[in-house]
Amino acid sequence: MKKKILTGIKPTGYAHLGNYFGAIKFAIDLSKSDEFDCFYFIADYHALTTLKTKEEMEEYSYNIACTWLACGLDPNKVVFYRQSDVPEVFELNWILSNVTPKGLMNRAHAYKAAVEKNEAEGQEKDFGVNMGLYNYPILMAADILLFGTNLVPVGLDQKQHIEIARDIASSFNNKYGNVFVLPEDYIQENVATLVGLDGRKMSKSYGNQIQLFTTENVLKKSINKIVTDCKLPGEPKDVDCTINKLYKLFAEEKQAKDFEERLKAGLSWGEAKQELFAVVNEYIKPMREKFDYYQAHKGEVDKILAEGAEKARMLAKKTIAKVRKTIGVK
Ligand code: ADP
Ligand code: TRP
Repeated sequence: MKKKILTGIKPTGYAHLGNYFGAIKFAIDLSKSDEFDCFYFIADYHALTTLKTKEEMEEYSYNIACTWLACGLDPNKVVFYRQSDVPEVFELNWILSNVTPKGLMNRAHAYKAAVEKNEAEGQEKDFGVNMGLYNYPILMAADILLFGTNLVPVGLDQKQHIEIARDIASSFNNKYGNVFVLPEDYIQENVATLVGLDGRKMSKSYGNQIQLFTTENVLKKSINKIVTDCKLPGEPKDVDCTINKLYKLFAEEKQAKDFEERLKAGLSWGEAKQELFAVVNEYIKPMREKFDYYQAHKGEVDKILAEGAEKARMLAKKTIAKVRKTIGVK
């Protein structure tokens, strides 16, 4: 039996370089190997915890779908679908809720962070927290367990969610017998956390992201916003800087070494940014053309996702039938 790989991205904004290097690229590389069966999806119901309008949901869902396709996802090789098109996820979500200790959810990062923020601001601890945010890890466990997933390629920030999915699977298995595969995270150490414009983790929530697909002009402007120190042209630069970290991801090894040497020798920040833009743009250009194509042909995207959902549901229905039988529901 081939190992199963599954991952999802929630459409809470436009895909950025952190999403690409932390999740998408790795997942697509893995899908090219015959060793794995791959399931990649748009986690639209996860995005509900933060999205405010219907327009945002539509816009970002297409952005993420077109991004996957532009980055090389082959729908003939990968089961590619929208989470919301697979109702079995939500049935399993409820069942799993009943083997999930509330204390486990209290310890989940996103909820804990919201509580800590409220406490620091003198608010009531659950202020602004909806049940979607609180139950988020259970829905994610349902995504993963429904397909018998072995490996989940994600960025480091998602590690805890995979551990929670494993805990939930174990507690179901302990109660009812071995039904669920225990999933593991699959994290690439070198890009576990990609830094953003301000040197912190690149994230939509910090507003420090560089959008993956946008016009050349906007890309250039974003790169120009990368925060640097005040070293003057001619002064040696710290090679641990954001610009060098990003450059390494986009350039060939030799080119990256040469860039680093020139930084040490005093390359100006202005020139360094121009060179970074050039390598990033060169890398992204062919994918951007595909992205623009899919954005202009959303009917095609819908068709691909509908076919993916059908394939996903075939397996999902089997799991749900087994789970229902296990818990004594006809
Ligand atoms: P964001 O933090 O911008 O909201 P998401 O939570 O939607 O990003 O992340 C989608 C995927 O991209 C996840 O697998 C996540 O781990 C990965 N990812 C997000 N930001 C980064 C980053 N800065 N470095 C590496 N991976 C990241
Ligand atoms: N929580 C993930 C994120 O914020 C998105 C996600 C939802 C996911 N379901 C998943 C990732 C299942 C991997 C597997 O990025």
